[in-house]
Amino acid sequence: MTTCYINGTYQSLLKSKVSITDRGFQFSDGVYEVIAVYENKFVDINLHLSRLMTSLKKLNIKIDLKIDQIEKISEKIKRVNHLSNGIIYLQITRGNQHPRDHKYPNNLKPNIIIYSIPKDFQKINNLAKKGVTTSLYPDIRWLRSDIKSISLLGNSLAANYAKDKKNHEAILYDSNNFITEGNSSSIWIIKKDKCITHPLGYRILKGCTRHKLISIIKRAKLKFEENKFSIKSLLSADEVFMTSATNFVMPIVKVDKHRISNGVPGQISLHLREEFIKQV
Ligand code: PDD
Repeated sequence: MTTCYINGTYQSLLKSKVSITDRGFQFSDGVYEVIAVYENKFVDINLHLSRLMTSLKKLNIKIDLKIDQIEKISEKIKRVNHLSNGIIYLQITRGNQHPRDHKYPNNLKPNIIIYSIPKDFQKINNLAKKGVTTSLYPDIRWLRSDIKSISLLGNSLAANYAKDKKNHEAILYDSNNFITEGNSSSIWIIKKDKCITHPLGYRILKGCTRHKLISIIKRAKLKFEENKFSIKSLLSADEVFMTSATNFVMPIVKVDKHRISNGVPGQISLHLREEFIKQV
């Protein structure tokens, strides 16, 4: 039985309920975070909780809990669920509202849930040795992808398109054929030893793994650039990889029918993965 924190109480996950009047349910009016637990340790919990607060602020959702209280609840969830490898999932919606109205009053009580899901990171580590395959998909999401909102229909359509093609991730491109990010990851290319990823802004999420990796890249004295890159540059890159809380640094070896380089994970990508895991 998995225990879930819900609005100040701890309950069995499968029995915990929120009202159908929840604005998260009716309007996707809420935010979330995914924090990895790897070999008993939280991965970058501070970065994730501070991004959670930023997402809430951008949507003007106010909660009574402070960051350190959310961290304590997450620790308790990890402990009571005996989670040594997996993720902590946090979701905060604006709260219940009846009658339904696009406009919300300012005094709603947010619904806050936190629970854990075990994950086999050994499987992910093995996957990284071979690298993963991907599909290109148009970025049809709304224009505020910087907010980690629970409104994930565009991401989900892209992910399922990739899944139908037996691929691990969809790589999204904008109307000018520039790559934005993955359906649930940041996308990187390496050209002539330079690591390149999309600049921050409204069109992508500020990935915590991305943020951490930038300092690893700089410390390794590799070249780094935040710049838009096209589908053409992606397909002709020396190496391609994705970063996320659940994949860490994952080499990409194929984009649709195009093999990246010679179809095996690149040396720099593998090195960066190793360095990232060392720092957990
Ligand atoms: N997704 N971009 C998008 C659209 C994402 O959904 C994610 C993460 C990232 C990478 O962010 P981070 O490095 O902080 O995990 C980028 C999580 C894992 C998810 O939705 O499950």
